[in-house]
Amino acid sequence: MDEDGYFGAAVANSYDRDHGGNDPALIDQTVACLKELAGTGSVLEFAVGTGRIALPLSAHCHCVKGIELSKAMVAELRKKETGAPMDIAIGDMTSTRLAGPFSLVFLVFNTIDNLVTQEAQIECFRNAARHLGLGGRFLVETRVPPLQRIPFGETKMAFACCDRHIGVDDYDISNQSYTSNHVWMADGGHEHVSIPFRYVWPSELDLMAKLAGLEFEHRWSDWNRAPFTHLSESHISVWKKTTC
Ligand SMILES: C[S@@+](CC[C@H](N)C(=O)[O-])C[C@H]1O[C@@H](n2cnc3c(N)ncnc32)[C@H](O)[C@@H]1O
Repeated sequence: MDEDGYFGAAVANSYDRDHGGNDPALIDQTVACLKELAGTGSVLEFAVGTGRIALPLSAHCHCVKGIELSKAMVAELRKKETGAPMDIAIGDMTSTRLAGPFSLVFLVFNTIDNLVTQEAQIECFRNAARHLGLGGRFLVETRVPPLQRIPFGETKMAFACCDRHIGVDDYDISNQSYTSNHVWMADGGHEHVSIPFRYVWPSELDLMAKLAGLEFEHRWSDWNRAPFTHLSESHISVWKKTTC
């Protein structure tokens, strides 16, 4: 692993094609929801990546900034920019600061799981709260841990199996962690990538928000704000800063 973490040049180059969640309808729904939550204030994306969401959002919001660990991912974002360069700090979203205040800080695409300890996830909430003005919101989109799908005693769950890509998650429920294992096939060769994650339940995120001084506001199962139910596979949760 290099200084860009698990998102070095090779992953960054193909991210928008292979990992991007680039369905235009999904991006439109995401941007519409974020725009409404932000109102007229400034917006900060934690782990902004290649700008999959931040770039289209910046066409609608007063000011959008980003924090990102990987220079290679930001280099991809820069290639897509058409207007003034976005203010992006290279650094860790648990501690890096940008000038605010912001009316919305958001962290999408399951990226809270990239923080592999409970302490780091708590610090992420604290850092989000530090960036918010009074009434500002922190939004997290992540999946509900899919443990109901794994038979008792098993640890592995396949999530991709096609010509180019085989993917298997390996869960360690004693440590609330999993490793996502990818094999990418191309040009007669293959590349193997294993990335560690910490899965986290909605209730634990609510507690982290409380520790950071944020109040629960919404939980939806998708960007159209469908209700969150026992069948929801992921959630979009919003907490609000109600005191300074
Ligand atoms: C799944 S991608 C999501 C990128 C973008 N938010 C999107 O929705 O497409 C995860 C991103 O999180 C970044 N990342 C992981 N850990 C981070 C950390 N501690 N601080 C800042 N960025 C981090 C990675 O470099 C990568 O760009």
